[in-house]
Amino acid sequence: MKHIVQTIDFQEYLSSAELPGQDRELLETARAATLTSYAPYSHYHVGAAVRLTGGQIVTGSNQENISFPAGLCAERVALFAAVSQFPGIAIEAIAISARADNFDVTEPVPPCGMCRQAIAEYEMKFNKGIRIILGGETGKALVIDNMEQLLPLMFREKGLVKP
Ligand code: THU
Repeated sequence: MKHIVQTIDFQEYLSSAELPGQDRELLETARAATLTSYAPYSHYHVGAAVRLTGGQIVTGSNQENISFPAGLCAERVALFAAVSQFPGIAIEAIAISARADNFDVTEPVPPCGMCRQAIAEYEMKFNKGIRIILGGETGKALVIDNMEQLLPLMFREKGLVKP
């Protein structure tokens, strides 16, 4: 038996103002996208912004439903919109933020497990890491180079992928 400890690698900025220009702009776009959220149940408004290799930016926000599981997270709304509007164009980066009706979001907003899996799918499809930029309304911002960092030991069954 071997005991293996795996570390993850990410960059932490004291505020989003310190982010490199393109990351800062994408996070600002994600913050603006929180205004399009439909969240009458959680009152938690998530925004996501995807940047493609051609420079296109596509946004999404969480869309809730009275039948709760029918709703969708902001990240998947943005990703699915991006790849359906621009099929075949790789994804460079995704930024995520949120605001809430009843409290201030002062911590970076990480993607849920299913959204991590969806981001990982497009890394595999385009054979390219996706940069992930996380921020709250205020406070620290995190930059993660690819989904491998947030989804260690991810499911990769090559036998399922037809040549
Ligand atoms: N939500 C997202 O949009 N993205 C995530 O990664 C986590 C959660 C949404 C789902 C729901 O509308 C609200 O946040 C509260 O969970």
